[in-house]
Amino acid sequence: MSHLSERPEKPVVGVSLPHESAFQHVTGAALYTDDLVQRTKDVLHAYPVQVMKAHGRITALRTEPALAVPGVVRVLTKADVPGVNDAGMKHDEPLFPDEVMFHGHAVAWVLGETLEAARLGAAAVEVELDELPSVITLQDAIAAESFHGARPLMTHGDIDAGFADSAHVFTGEFQFSGQEHFYLETHAALAQVDENGQLFIQSSTQHPSETQEIVSHVLGVPAHEVTVQCLRMGGGFGGKEMQPHGFAAIAALGAKLTGRPVRFRLNRTQDLTMSGKRHGFNATWKIGFDAEGRIQALDATLTADGGWSLDLSEPVLARALCHIDNTYWIPNARVAGRIAKTNTVSNTAFRGFGGPQGMLVIEDILGRCAPRLGLDPMELRERNFYRPGQGQTTPYGQLVTQAERISTVWQQVRDDAGIADRGREIAAFNAAHPHTKRALAITGIKFGISFNLTAFNQGGALVLIYKDGSVLINHGGTEMGQGLHTKMMQVAATTLGIPLHKVRLAPTRTDKVPNTSATAASSGADLNGGAIKNACEQLRGRLQQVAASQLGVNASDVRIVEGVARALGSDKELGWDELVHTAYFQRVQLSAAGFYRTEGLHWDVKSFRGTPFKYFAYGAAATEVEVDGFTGAYRIRRVDIVHDVGESLSPMIDIGQVEGGFVQGAGWLTLEDLRWDTSDGPNRGRLLTQAASTYKLPSFSEMPEEFNVRLLENATEEGAVYGSKAVGEPPLMLAFSVREALRQAAAAFGPSGVSVDLASPATPEAVYWAIQEARQGGDASRLVHAVNGTAVNGHSANGHSGNGQSGNGQSGDGKVRTDAEALSGA
Ligand code: MTE
Ligand code: MOS
Repeated sequence: MSHLSERPEKPVVGVSLPHESAFQHVTGAALYTDDLVQRTKDVLHAYPVQVMKAHGRITALRTEPALAVPGVVRVLTKADVPGVNDAGMKHDEPLFPDEVMFHGHAVAWVLGETLEAARLGAAAVEVELDELPSVITLQDAIAAESFHGARPLMTHGDIDAGFADSAHVFTGEFQFSGQEHFYLETHAALAQVDENGQLFIQSSTQHPSETQEIVSHVLGVPAHEVTVQCLRMGGGFGGKEMQPHGFAAIAALGAKLTGRPVRFRLNRTQDLTMSGKRHGFNATWKIGFDAEGRIQALDATLTADGGWSLDLSEPVLARALCHIDNTYWIPNARVAGRIAKTNTVSNTAFRGFGGPQGMLVIEDILGRCAPRLGLDPMELRERNFYRPGQGQTTPYGQLVTQAERISTVWQQVRDDAGIADRGREIAAFNAAHPHTKRALAITGIKFGISFNLTAFNQGGALVLIYKDGSVLINHGGTEMGQGLHTKMMQVAATTLGIPLHKVRLAPTRTDKVPNTSATAASSGADLNGGAIKNACEQLRGRLQQVAASQLGVNASDVRIVEGVARALGSDKELGWDELVHTAYFQRVQLSAAGFYRTEGLHWDVKSFRGTPFKYFAYGAAATEVEVDGFTGAYRIRRVDIVHDVGESLSPMIDIGQVEGGFVQGAGWLTLEDLRWDTSDGPNRGRLLTQAASTYKLPSFSEMPEEFNVRLLENATEEGAVYGSKAVGEPPLMLAFSVREALRQAAAAFGPSGVSVDLASPATPEAVYWAIQEARQGGDASRLVHAVNGTAVNGHSANGHSGNGQSGNGQSGDGKVRTDAEALSGA
């Protein structure tokens, strides 16, 4: 058995290939869960009965009027649940609730012969409610101390000593928005039951095993009665890590009760109003720097907007805490975490899983403090990087390995981007243009790879070789566009030593590989690739024995390369198909189950310390923006990225992930603006941004005009499959450079050295307010600067210091500013 990272001769990994379904994607031939309905007979359609109030106790639920609607077959309610009436892993998510917990909460589901019948039936269901007070915004939840779940505390070093040693101390507050996943394919499932009562559920899920688990709980049947399959998803981005389970359980329950196939696919507005999003956060912080600008201490509290139930909020918060250091060494830290309970959808995983939120806090702090320290932001960031070889650990106690890569990618991006020359050009441009300003910012990332929960770091595979030499692989990961299946086929072909066309991949199913982890935390290729490699090594070992006996050599001398077995120092050879055929007749087992678990991880939830990550992914981005001083409108002129994916398994796929991640991050930080009705009117709690018309996603016109992405070279990762690193999430955070460039461009409208506070998302409107602030001398009133505890600049009792955003009327949680805007969200 070879070393995990070592590549054999002529590997198929490392070759740039299109996504295995690229052709089907662009021709429309690729099937998604709901496309399967057209191929299924007698399907019933499920439609939710959504209650349009933010909070209230159900006093009456009348289903008879729905049953009178032609085509309505059945109404599913709590009374129908044979098992546990709960859809969550934390048992706080009644599938059919007695209490409406957010505007749009589904309390019953109608099954109809047609979608229209089900829709009319749902509209006919009568629900009476005793309305209860609701908490909509994160600020209100904090004020009301409405929290749920764990309250982690991460401590490191001695913050009192750290602050005592600090020449500069600043405090501030920052509240920023969540993000809608806006996967192209909304939540969908199709459930069928066979003559033995066996359930087969096709679901758009990142976590088929957990969908299976929840379905079996709801139905009160053992897991072996439920099979979940995921063909592919039209995007997941974390939004299908936990949220599909309850929906799939509805379809399964309907199928079980009626004996007919049941499908649903949420329409866009249902998906937007019923499913969770990225958590918006509030952060309060105090930071101390020495005279050279090196961080001495950080004291912060992060509050995540969890929504009505816990879902994945606890692990998301844990990852946020574990990423507040980003690429910076913080010798003394105390970071507390809380989860707000609000009457909104239950927020969930979203690319980066809390990491982006934690990292955004420190980047915001550095962006705001640099001018106050009299330092260029680039310089301030560089001074605080983790240094290699000094045994520096993160605030949760993990040694930062490969710390040199932080400055390597940074330096490469500086060179690629031509920082020195462009800095001069930008200064000249700004001097000549009073109403238009440009700025260039570089930010870096360090992102921990592995699930914080050690148990999830395992993967399984089942590899079958048929008599004719063709190979079918199964693994526990799901495909959502990220190219996992492409990589897994490349891994199998590489390990077996055969051309790629010999390998086919079967849809992800719980009856092929059991107890799988979510395809999440970017670890799909690490875990499933490890398992496929393991299975293929077993098979290769057996076939090498067969080849050795045929060629009359030692098995250890046999190499299988490009489908031909040869022995070292011999010119005899044996083709793959013949080798497999021979093995069959020698009664050699031609299938193998593979398994992989990540070694060396440990995590103690209580003390919030350990080594939760196998390694870190690094990257850096340089972004130049141009901002219009009259409107705050801006464009991204150029982006340069150097990103570390180890030794890429599939370079074209990885470049696509870097580009896509960056753009999605830029969308979160600049355009995508979730708003709820926070008024006390009848629509309180309603999501105002319910469609693409009111929720602005990045489109082609917002792309960088020049976009240069390159992968770090000579970056083999010793601990991971064929030397590769995970890529799915980390690049999203490279978009911090866009936000910091916007801050700097806004500052360029003010006197030199002005510190500017920028709302998130930094919409053109928010940028406009930041420009106004810069013109008035910056955020002196809000960023409190103290030397050893004595405030020297500004103070905290001026009415708007409590919220980093309130000075410009922008509230990161989507608080409505004017009625006119609220209405335009319809
Ligand atoms: N890329 C595409 N095209 N679509 C997606 O839904 N999800 C992201 C990322 N890249 C996603 C994507 C998220 S949130 C994760 S965790 C990883 O892919 C999951 O896949 P991996 O573990 O195979 O990288
Ligand atoms: Mo990704 S947020 O871990 O599904």
